[in-house]
Amino acid sequence: MGMSVTISVATEQDAEQIFRLQYLCFQSEAALYGNYRIDPLVQSLDSVRAEVASDCVFVARLGDEVVGSVRGALDEDGAAAIGKLCVHPRLQGHGIGARLLRAAESALAEERGATKFRLSAGHRSEGNLRLYRRVGYEAVGTSQGRDGVPMVILEKPAQAYVATA
Ligand SMILES: CC(C)(COP(=O)(O)OP(=O)(O)OC[C@H]1O[C@@H](n2cnc3c(N)ncnc32)[C@H](O)[C@@H]1OP(=O)(O)O)[C@@H](O)C(=O)NCCC(=O)NCCS
Repeated sequence: MGMSVTISVATEQDAEQIFRLQYLCFQSEAALYGNYRIDPLVQSLDSVRAEVASDCVFVARLGDEVVGSVRGALDEDGAAAIGKLCVHPRLQGHGIGARLLRAAESALAEERGATKFRLSAGHRSEGNLRLYRRVGYEAVGTSQGRDGVPMVILEKPAQAYVATA
C-alpha cells in the first residue's frame, strides 16, 4: 500500500463521506440478516451530521478518502456506547477496525470520563464478535433492535485508560 491510513477526529466536512461509507459497509450485515432496515442503512445524513457535532466520532483516512469510521457517546450511567464501526470492504482485515476502536475508547475515557465501554453486535456476526472479544469485551446480555435483529451486548471496563491519566 503506497499511502498509510491515519486515524483522526471527524470534522463536519466528513459527515457525507461517513454517511456513504456506512451505507456501503453495512450491506454485508443487512444481507446476513436479510434485513435492509438496520439502523446504519436507514440513518439520515442530517442525523450523521448531528452525531459528528455532538459525539466522539473518528475517521480513518487514506489520502482524502474516508475509509473507516466509529462513534461513541456517553450514556446516563457513565458507560460509553460505541457503534457504527465500519471499514471499507477493500481495506478490511488490516487492523484499521481495531485502531478506530482504540481511538474512540481512549477519547471517551480521557475526554468524557467514560467508566466503561458498551457496544452491540448482531448475534450471528461472528467476525465482529471475535474482534470485540479479542480487544477485551465480554458479552453481558442480549437485546432486540428496533429492526428485530437479536443483538449481543458487550462491555469492557475503562480503568486501563483512567489509571494512566
Ligand atoms: C467490523 C469491521 C469494522 C472490522 O474492520 P477491520 O478493519 O476489518 O478490522 P480488523 O482488521 O481490526 O480485524 C478484522 C480481522 O483482521 C485481522 N487482522 C487485524 N490486523 C491484521 C493485519 N495487520 N494483518 C492481517 N490480518 C489482520 C484480525 O485478526 C481480524 O481477524 P478475525 O476476523 O479472524 O478476528 C469491518 O469488517 C466492517 O466494516 N464490517 C461491516 C460493518 C459492521 O459489521 N460493523 C460492526 C457492527 S457491530
